[in-house]
Amino acid sequence: MSTIESTPGEIATIGVIGAGQMGNGIAHVAAAAGYSVLLMDVSEAALAKGIATITGNLGRQVKKGTLSQAEADATLARISGGTSLSHVANADLIIEAATENQALKNRIFQDLSKIAAPHSLFATNTSSISITAIAAQTDRPSRFMGMHFMNPVPVMKLVELIRGLATTPETYAAVEAAAQKMGKVTVEGRDMPGFIVNRVLMPYINEAVQALYEGIASVSDIDQAMKLGTNVPMGPLTLADFIGLDTCLAIMEVLHNGLGDSKYRPSPLLRKYVEAGWLGKKTGRGFYTY
Ligand code: CAA
Repeated sequence: MSTIESTPGEIATIGVIGAGQMGNGIAHVAAAAGYSVLLMDVSEAALAKGIATITGNLGRQVKKGTLSQAEADATLARISGGTSLSHVANADLIIEAATENQALKNRIFQDLSKIAAPHSLFATNTSSISITAIAAQTDRPSRFMGMHFMNPVPVMKLVELIRGLATTPETYAAVEAAAQKMGKVTVEGRDMPGFIVNRVLMPYINEAVQALYEGIASVSDIDQAMKLGTNVPMGPLTLADFIGLDTCLAIMEVLHNGLGDSKYRPSPLLRKYVEAGWLGKKTGRGFYTY
């Protein structure tokens, strides 16, 4: 039996690739759970922004009295940043949270496979792309799986777990235990486009955009209708801005291409907004201005 087929040991160190919206949240909850966290992004600026977000979110908890200053300081001290992939290479579990782009994820995992410790488990936070396909880019498909956190990661209780075709039960159990140690509730979805959450959520968001496109109602009335009419915390267009319209479009394309049914066709208006660079909250403009 080769080393990379062996039973995973205890996870003490977690590597996180990407310090953006999802990556900094994952680093936050992992460090808060007591893991040593190795956070990596390609630029110092992106890394600093991610760490500043974690610091701000911890500060908010301290202000509210739900966390002591000492606990916040200890959480931050468990996170170390780096700008090269080698920074995460020795982590027991390495979670990739880069942009939702399969070519990028493939490249990251090909490069990581050359330098990661043989015992490291790999996980991707992809929200819709085939786990089996990304796993096939690595030297360890049996030690690879999907670990899909929700945004904002420190608040949302769910992690979706997805096995690739080759994922072993031991890998699944180790990653499930890590998610639970981070305070999350796990569900298991099959490795099909969108898994559970985005198979259901994205067509809903896309339909709200299509309703806007067809002049059914205004942005604020669509959101108000769904917020007050179905008791969701955010209306679908607010939520789309919050997730990022580029991410919403990328997920709709995965559903459309992967399932081949025209009901998953991205709304032309969603595509137009992305072409304009109106990506939502992160760019200051989407369906709303920020
Ligand atoms: N990071 C960390 N903490 C945050 C936060 C952030 N970005 N935003 C809000 N919070 C915290 C606040 O500190 C507050 O904490 P306490 O309860 O301890 O006081 C709590 O969240 C509630 O915040 P607010 O009172 O400021 O605001 P709110 O009540 O409007 O809640 C929200 C904000 C939690 C984001 C809420 O609007 C919500 O649940 N929205 C829906 C989010 C959602 O659906 N996420 C899933 C998106 S889909 C996804 O992620 C999958 C994918 O692949 C696309």
